[in-house]
Amino acid sequence: MSHAAAPSPLSTVRAASLKGRVRVPGDKSISHRALMFGALSLGTTRITGLLEGEDVINTARAVTALGAPAKQEGDTWVVMGRGVGGLAQPDAPIDFGNSGTGTRLMMGVIAGHPITVTMTGDKSLSMRPMRRVLGPLKKMGLEVVEDRETLPLTLRGSDTLVPIIYELPVPSAQVKSAILLAGLHAPGETTVIETEPTRDHTERMLRFFGADIRTEMKDGKTHITVKGEAELKGRDVIVPGDPSSAAFLICAALLVPGSDVTVEGVLVNETRTGLYTTLQEMGADITFTNPREEGGEPIADIRARYSTLKGVSVPAERAPSMIDEYPVLAAVAAFAHGDTIMHGLSELKVKESDRLAATAAGLEANGVNATVDGETLIVHGMGGKVPGGGVVATHLDHRIAMAFLTMGLSSETPVTVDDTAMIATSFPEFIGLMEKLGASYR
Ligand code: S3P
Repeated sequence: MSHAAAPSPLSTVRAASLKGRVRVPGDKSISHRALMFGALSLGTTRITGLLEGEDVINTARAVTALGAPAKQEGDTWVVMGRGVGGLAQPDAPIDFGNSGTGTRLMMGVIAGHPITVTMTGDKSLSMRPMRRVLGPLKKMGLEVVEDRETLPLTLRGSDTLVPIIYELPVPSAQVKSAILLAGLHAPGETTVIETEPTRDHTERMLRFFGADIRTEMKDGKTHITVKGEAELKGRDVIVPGDPSSAAFLICAALLVPGSDVTVEGVLVNETRTGLYTTLQEMGADITFTNPREEGGEPIADIRARYSTLKGVSVPAERAPSMIDEYPVLAAVAAFAHGDTIMHGLSELKVKESDRLAATAAGLEANGVNATVDGETLIVHGMGGKVPGGGVVATHLDHRIAMAFLTMGLSSETPVTVDDTAMIATSFPEFIGLMEKLGASYR
């Protein structure tokens, strides 16, 4: 599903106040995994709360093309699993649209099957680095036809993969997950070593599907080991609300005077909540209530009220737990009193766009001074008054679009984003939910 249509720009209208209780769609990371792990299981997997954004729909189509049909039945998605090693040769190339997660995790799945698969994607995905996944998978036995490192790519998997021990050179849950998924097919144990913890949904969910997987701390590093030739069993999965989507509604409430917003049933796994910690350090009135567990993941309701914020320094170690939230944090930091300094942002350069550059440019276009110094972004807070008035180039990046459509709800003059089409990849309900809370766009 690639976007070739004419761009659809949108402008903000200054909001009076935002109020209400809402739910956001299912977590994107967990949704991709539920479909893929269901496909690799024996029996049926039923998923409720699946994110029906374009990225995840592309993964549903991909598992279907590989012989494990994923179908919507009312509120539930049902995957007919084929078991580890049981997927089949697709009869056409598979299009992953805009999704790095779908692509990279699926590379680990394909690696363990004796099939040849061509993977394609949109312009943004075709520029993203794949060597970080292909390198370790090649060590395990994956063959990359013509040895390309970006999409379109043709991969030849194998039913005789070898297990590896691999230390991640970049803190990436996608790379970790791809190796662990390939490890399910290899005899013996495959270990991934992390120096910085990244989101652990793969570990939690593989355990839930019956894999033998363990996590140990050794010399300050996390060793995650999966036993190969695994047998997974179909499960019922409930997908919690996506904290990366909730972030826009919570941040909007903090910025618009008089606001009081609660987002219910949000995933609060600590490998994902760095933004919320940072906002609280900035003085945000955010509370977590009704903590509970759903499908092996912690969830809670998150309430945010309008707050006067101060700039803070965000440590590099926190980056993996808020990697998708820097654009919206930068939008919030624009209103704060004083500078917000965000360290350790090298991975932001290789997301759906170069988010470091796109965020800084979007701020500058709207009268906010932002400095990029290597891997550090410094936003010079305007103490409550952000001029706005600029047009933001979104570079096929959903989170750049949503971050600036959040900032503009409280700026002095409207903020315009050049294209909103990509919002449908992760959060199709974004505009509708903002409007339900009292915002409007034109
Ligand atoms: C994801 C991991 C992160 C994140 C992405 C989803 C995942 O990417 O940015 O949106 O589901 O594993 P990296 O692992 O490449 O940092």
